[in-house]
Amino acid sequence: MDLKQAMKERHTVRRFKNKPLDEETVRLLEERVRENNEKLGTEIRLVCNDDSAFNAALKLFLAKNAVNYFVLTGEDSEKLEENLGYASADLMLYAQTLGLNTWWVGGTYSRRTIEALNPGKKTLGIVVVGYGEVQGSPHRSKKFSDIAAYEGEMPQWFKDGVEAVLLAPTAVNRQAVRISGKGNEVAMSYARGFLGKADLGICRYFFELGAGKENFTFTETTA
Ligand SMILES: Cc1cc2nc3c(=O)[nH]c(=O)nc-3n(C[C@H](O)[C@H](O)[C@H](O)COP(=O)(O)O)c2cc1C
Repeated sequence: MDLKQAMKERHTVRRFKNKPLDEETVRLLEERVRENNEKLGTEIRLVCNDDSAFNAALKLFLAKNAVNYFVLTGEDSEKLEENLGYASADLMLYAQTLGLNTWWVGGTYSRRTIEALNPGKKTLGIVVVGYGEVQGSPHRSKKFSDIAAYEGEMPQWFKDGVEAVLLAPTAVNRQAVRISGKGNEVAMSYARGFLGKADLGICRYFFELGAGKENFTFTETTA
């Protein structure tokens, strides 16, 4: 499975099998984390076999075997949140290509426990990774015309990019993204609000993967 196929198959999964990640899988995930950190200036890391990210009630009702997770953290800067979102999209889809499932958690985790792992840094959330008990299901989605417009005759790459964004995970499934295209230029914005910048980064990644980076340039991305 490649990353494009992974976009279609990825859905949020909150319950995982009691099956540890094997050594080779951990090595591949850590390598991918390192590449993202190098490219984007983030300080994401993978924590394995640790059950302290969720409180007892959540573990009982929602977060079953959610014991492996990427901690989305870094030195605070203007672009950190968008970059963490962008990197998280790559890690989720890469994990999917390895037969894993994921869950982005920005609210319902033990924030203080996780933040204590990264003193002095900004921590946005975690992405749980593991073997899902189920594969999840497609989210309720806005329509193409709700989020995108193109001036003139719409090229195929723009359509593909917007279709990809409609598959992207966003906080509380808000999908508050706007994409406008003209010629080979694309502007993307995301409505302010809870984790809007992270969502913008995720949508930017999905658009690039769907449209093909070689076909367009982003004039601006804002949230
Ligand atoms: C930035 C972000 C934050 C999220 N925070 C939470 C959360 O705190 N708790 C939760 O259960 N799901 C959370 N989610 C998962 C979303 O609810 C989910 O991605 C969305 O409903 C779309 O579903 P899908 O991922 O299956 O496409 C979050 C997702 C994103 C992208």
